[in-house]
Amino acid sequence: MKRITIFGKGNMAKVISERFKKAGNTVEMFGSKDEVGVLGDIVVLAVPYAAVAKILEENKKALEGKVLVDITNPVNFATMDDLLVPSNSSATEVIASTVLKAKVVKAFNTNFASTLAGDVPTTILLASDDLEAKVTLSRALEGSGLVVVDAGALKRARELEALGFLQITLAIREQIGWMGGFALTK
Ligand SMILES: NC(=O)c1ccc[n+]([C@@H]2O[C@H](COP(=O)([O-])OP(=O)(O)OC[C@H]3O[C@@H](n4cnc5c(N)ncnc54)[C@H](OP(=O)(O)O)[C@@H]3O)[C@@H](O)[C@H]2O)c1
Repeated sequence: MKRITIFGKGNMAKVISERFKKAGNTVEMFGSKDEVGVLGDIVVLAVPYAAVAKILEENKKALEGKVLVDITNPVNFATMDDLLVPSNSSATEVIASTVLKAKVVKAFNTNFASTLAGDVPTTILLASDDLEAKVTLSRALEGSGLVVVDAGALKRARELEALGFLQITLAIREQIGWMGGFALTK
């Protein structure tokens, strides 16, 4: 049983919270107007990418040693044609370089919120250089009903963000529904 802190109270925060609770963890969520309390063992950034920098700045010390889960898709909403991070980097790598003492993991960004709420088997892809952090997150999700797959090193966050972006563009162009998305077949 882990204590989970989620920054954000929106679509993703709610469904991720339910999954962690189903797996037997306790969850606390903080919105933008809430006073942030003591952080749990696992901290999830379920906020727009544009809001991340301020959260990291305000909680830098408290994030030391935490498993910090980045779920963002840093889409440039002005153009809907690219990401806000250079192609030789990722939001997750930017976060990892900002809070050096946190154990940063990319997760959940390739899953639409509605698919996490439903009964369709869903796979969560993880990317991190910290194997222990990936194991901690995977164990905390045991019993959640989600399948968790280790997609590799932190650098793989680039591909996960590209995949998440492609999936969003497919949904916006009505080629797939918001209940759809890429599936992983083993
Ligand atoms: N929706 C999806 O299907 C999906 C899928 C994969 C990944 N993602 C990613 O998940 C993240 C959240 O998406 P969402 O769909 O859940 O967005 P959302 O429904 O718009 O929720 C965003 C939440 O972030 C909160 N927030 C903003 N600034 C904050 C701050 N400084 N401190 C604490 N909370 C803050 C907002 O609170 P206020 O309302 O109080 O401002 C709101 O509760 C995004 O990065 C997105 O790219 C989304």
